[in-house]
Amino acid sequence: MLAPEEIIRLEDGAVVLLDQRQLPAERVELSCHSAAEVAEAIRTLAVRGAPAIGVAAAYGMALAAWHGEDRAAARAVLAASRPTAVNLFWALAEMDAWAGDPAERARAIHVEEVERCRRMAEHALALFSPGLRVLTHCNAGGLATGGVGTAVGAIVRAHEAGLVEHVWADETRPLLQGARLTAWELEQAGVPFHVIADSAAALTMARGEVDLVVTGADRIAANGDTANKIGTYMLAVLAHHHGIPLVIVAPSSTVDLSLADGGAIPIEERDGAELTARFPARNPAFDVTPAALISAIVTERGIHRAPFDLDPGAFA
Ligand code: MRU
Repeated sequence: MLAPEEIIRLEDGAVVLLDQRQLPAERVELSCHSAAEVAEAIRTLAVRGAPAIGVAAAYGMALAAWHGEDRAAARAVLAASRPTAVNLFWALAEMDAWAGDPAERARAIHVEEVERCRRMAEHALALFSPGLRVLTHCNAGGLATGGVGTAVGAIVRAHEAGLVEHVWADETRPLLQGARLTAWELEQAGVPFHVIADSAAALTMARGEVDLVVTGADRIAANGDTANKIGTYMLAVLAHHHGIPLVIVAPSSTVDLSLADGGAIPIEERDGAELTARFPARNPAFDVTPAALISAIVTERGIHRAPFDLDPGAFA
């Protein structure tokens, strides 16, 4: 498993990250030397996954301070990089609120995010039982968080505990985060898996080969409605039809209590050329799964069940 600093780190004058666009074929680092370059790395998915986007944005602000960039301009360019993962805006707000050394706070955010993942994986163990066949979508592993992972972290931990027999990794069209990144991480962790086409999920469930669906999230509204990679809602409907529980694993930095429900979650619309350069295409990158289709949400505070109350006070 990659160490957090192998995924993303702050150096003097640079944010250095593992370029996820090149994986699994090549393990190449990308050095960003301005907030704008960090924003471009986020926009183009060199670094992606909600918590990792937040960590990158925090490092971007620290980098801007190191270079003496205009703080408001740096913040604006980072905030415009991607709209859906609330971790980006959460991390920028954390940096706004910090009066001390920006590098210190940014590094602390990274450490805290990794620790939240560890705690989520421990809490999630209670939702697994021996011999489970688990399906996951997109990539919610160490790469997506700066270390350990949310959904994949929980799956790997449950596998270590002898509770996971096999994983189905949805390939995740159009950018193949599942086929490229989740598969790479599961292979490294020694978890038995197969990649399947997104459209094979229904058949796999109908064959009785899926016991549990586990995914991450990009933004969770106060009522539990959850935005995640496009196709998650489709999986949730399928899981409901087949009586299979759907579990979301996501840190509190992904919870947006300012939104009562998922209706107002901004959905990123990416370039249609990611689907086809020949024909007109629409390319929404996320969808919202209604809370009613979610069996449990695991945060670092514990396991939340319907009716979801994600306010920190609920677990104080
Ligand atoms: O477009 P991406 O690759 O950033 O989308 C990522 C996802 O949808 C993940 O499932 C989500 O961010 C959770 S990451 C722990």
